[in-house]
Amino acid sequence: MVTTSSSPALTVDVHLEARDLRAALERDVRSGLGAARKSLPPTWFYDEAGSKLFEEITELPEYYPTRAERALLGLYAADIASLTRSDTLVELGAGSCEKTRLLLDALARRGELGRYVPFDVSADFLRESAATLVREYDGLQVHAVVGDFLRHLDAIPGGGRRLVAFLGGTIGNLVPAQRVGFLAALRATMGPADHLLLGADLVKDAGRIVAAYDDSAGVTARFNRNVLNVVNRELDADFVVERFAHAVRWDPVARWIEMRLRSDRDQLVHVGALGLTVPFARDEELLTEISAKFTPSGIGRELARAGFVVERQWGAEEGEFLLTLAHPGPRR
Ligand code: SAH
Ligand code: AVI
Repeated sequence: MVTTSSSPALTVDVHLEARDLRAALERDVRSGLGAARKSLPPTWFYDEAGSKLFEEITELPEYYPTRAERALLGLYAADIASLTRSDTLVELGAGSCEKTRLLLDALARRGELGRYVPFDVSADFLRESAATLVREYDGLQVHAVVGDFLRHLDAIPGGGRRLVAFLGGTIGNLVPAQRVGFLAALRATMGPADHLLLGADLVKDAGRIVAAYDDSAGVTARFNRNVLNVVNRELDADFVVERFAHAVRWDPVARWIEMRLRSDRDQLVHVGALGLTVPFARDEELLTEISAKFTPSGIGRELARAGFVVERQWGAEEGEFLLTLAHPGPRR
């Protein structure tokens, strides 16, 4: 079921109503907290408070990815605009749409920009960001989509020459099997005039990566624990968030960061809405996020496997962060 609301320059399609979100959270909590190795998907970080905490993270001295990607967009947005000649910018996991302005400005300078499609699971935050852009960009049609990019990619409006941006390194928050399915599904929604712009964080010194996820001000710890606030509020659970420590580990084989919440004692947590009692042993950990880091050739291979053809990569030499521009190759 899609509900749509619109004003002259702003349309919002909702593919995830509150009841759908609630059903998905119930499913994830039942399976994730019922498993021998407990986990919750990172999507649940991003309620209004979590989205604001993520914005704070992007300004931390230790959190380099946002600054690195913004610098690349500053240098290369004009090239991206002339290579793609897109009239529509689609942004998956758009968040605050902050770096987006660099792409919107570059496309607008060529006189070819007509539409912006921010797509995100976090409805209130998306509405606010979309409304701000409508005020800032005269003549821009903003068509926001509230949905899950693992389930609702076919909800992306068609037409025109679309540049689909998936920025911030969010691709790294998908586990490998999800990445494969996601890229193939995305490729299937794209036509010959469309392009994909993918932002991915690169493998680098482990100390630097760990510091980015374990900042000295403790903002990432609050972001991590926020998932427990979400479960408390939405499913009437009684997590005492202070009893769970923020834990960060670099896995050098999988080449990803793992964020976990470690129980500081033996304790029972009740999830009222599900009639569930969840035992946590002292030092038992709940996995809340992976954040995979890539190599330029690895990204190229994953895109090729999904049917994309890489056109350009920027940032590879500096080794900090990578932007990859690809187009959907011939239909297979
Ligand atoms: N692109 C922005 C924000 C990254 S934070 C940046 O680069 O700074 C990740 C964003 O993805 C959040 O806004 C979150 O709400 C959204 N998100 C996470 N999981 C999602 C999912 N399954 N479907 C749609 N959006 C999702
Ligand atoms: C959104 N995503 C790319 C962030 C990341 O770096 O994996 C989420 C995040 N988690 C902790 N800090 C930031």
